[in-house]
Amino acid sequence: MKKKLIVAMTGASGSIYGLRLISSLMTFPADVFVLMSEAGRQVTAHETDFKSGSIAEYLEQIGAVFHEQANLTETDPSDSFAPIASGSFRHNGMVIAPCSMNTLAAISSGITDNLIHRAADVCLKEKRPLILLPRETPFSLIHLKNMVSAAEAGATILPPSPGFYTLPETIDDLVDSIVARILDHLGFAYDLSPRWGGKE
Ligand SMILES: Cc1cc2nc3c(=O)[nH]c(=O)nc-3n(C[C@H](O)[C@H](O)[C@H](O)COP(=O)(O)O)c2cc1C
Repeated sequence: MKKKLIVAMTGASGSIYGLRLISSLMTFPADVFVLMSEAGRQVTAHETDFKSGSIAEYLEQIGAVFHEQANLTETDPSDSFAPIASGSFRHNGMVIAPCSMNTLAAISSGITDNLIHRAADVCLKEKRPLILLPRETPFSLIHLKNMVSAAEAGATILPPSPGFYTLPETIDDLVDSIVARILDHLGFAYDLSPRWGGKE
């Protein structure tokens, strides 16, 4: 069945996780709503070869595979009138990859001053999956407490800390191992990364 998902990229390091996640979701019959904070755009331009413009066009340029029933909708995070701002908009979950400490703090304290925070807040109140990839190192006690608050409210904290037991050879292998865990949590069948414990 076709799924509806929200993916937000914020200004933490690790933009590659968000781009790879969006690209992977495009291989499924899915409606994906993408939000990028201003800091997210700046850090992505610094860390990756996506410098500006539309993510859909960028994915086409790099030869990403699109399922014929995949749709990508990019929404400005300042657009508080967008459908995803409302609890009445039904979807299958939201991922924030990467999630900055700023956005984590907003979510854990219920502050909704942009559409990323608002959509995450809606996930928590409507009991829909919310997966956060918080990235900072080291974590302060404030960061850790904010993660506890978000987890207590129903979020899944999925730090982008790849395992090395699959013997990754490239950065893409490392990134895919995390994207595979996200897809698992969202209920997608994938073959991005080897699983531990044999063939499935
Ligand atoms: C190159 C660069 C890397 C950054 N990396 C991180 C990071 O890993 N984690 C983090 O919480 N903030 C990081 N920041 C700071 C955030 O971008 C900043 O706090 C911003 O206000 C976050 O806004 P947002 O939550 O709306 O995206 C970084 C900033 C820059 C310029």
